[in-house]
Amino acid sequence: MNKVTVIGAGNVGATVANVLAHKDFIKEIVLVDIKGDLAQGKALDSWQQAPIDYYSTRLIGTDDYSKTKDSDIVVITAGLPRKPGMSRDDLISTNAGIVNSVTASVVKYSSNPIIIVVSNPLDVMTYAAYKVSGISDHRVFGMAGILDTARYRAFLAEALDVSPKDIQAILMGGHGDSMVPLPRFTTVSGIPVTELIEESKLNAIVDRTKVGGGELVKLMGTSAWYAPGAAAAQMVEAIAKDEKRIFPCCARLNGQYGLNDVFVGVPVKLGQNGIEQILELKLSDSEKQLLHQSAAEVKVTMEVYDKLPAA
Ligand code: APR
Repeated sequence: MNKVTVIGAGNVGATVANVLAHKDFIKEIVLVDIKGDLAQGKALDSWQQAPIDYYSTRLIGTDDYSKTKDSDIVVITAGLPRKPGMSRDDLISTNAGIVNSVTASVVKYSSNPIIIVVSNPLDVMTYAAYKVSGISDHRVFGMAGILDTARYRAFLAEALDVSPKDIQAILMGGHGDSMVPLPRFTTVSGIPVTELIEESKLNAIVDRTKVGGGELVKLMGTSAWYAPGAAAAQMVEAIAKDEKRIFPCCARLNGQYGLNDVFVGVPVKLGQNGIEQILELKLSDSEKQLLHQSAAEVKVTMEVYDKLPAA
């Protein structure tokens, strides 16, 4: 992979760049921020880590989009993070303005990149990047599911006193309280989790996962970055190495699950062409109902976006 651009050199963006550099398969990472000195500083700091941690990826920081020319993949993390007392939706109008303008600048210099959106509120910001970029929907999608699933897996690992490596899970729906947990698709080294944990404990873990982002906002006064950054980096890696990995990602549905023109978390196959397949699980009636409810909530935010003056 030649070139990856990360927009936003704040907590999440700098983490994405740093995690990717450590994986050492990208020639150049360009970190862009409206605060050009910040991007330059973080890129320089990460580059100075290269001789210690042994990687060759070059990192540069800038506020000049011409340096992003011909990027293969662009990760958008620009935007305000949540503060205590704010929901993700409180960020819609501010972050929509930011995501609109950075997407327009990105496509000015890269004709058909794969765009991964991380800015919140995630589902609607992915819609914004899709609309403004004019790029096909299998190349514009969002990072949420890997993070939500990781939180769920981490809580389960703690409760069961097992390695998080052995926990496989999938969650669907919007990023946030309307996510759709699917305990029957959760396994511990192939063993259905329902055989290892009481229902009430599992439900408590699901509930904690739904507000997992808010728990961190409360603790730190701003939103999380290590796990979100690593999650976005994992998506970049799957695409760059054409791994065909199955991850929950925020994707535009075109009839799958009986839903149309809505961005929502579903299992997808990620490879060199971006989303190469949306996997359609056979959901029970109640799971399907939860997914539709979650999609309806995302649709409301998409309508709010469509009515914004800048859209
Ligand atoms: N162009 C480029 N960068 C911008 C722009 C813009 N128009 N507007 C803001 N930024 C930059 C800010 O200067 C800041 O450095 O985006 C960066 C955001 O960094 P943080 O404030 O540290 O926020 P962070 O925790 O990284 O979260 C970024 O990701 O997880 C989501 O909810 C989170 O929407 C938020 C985003």
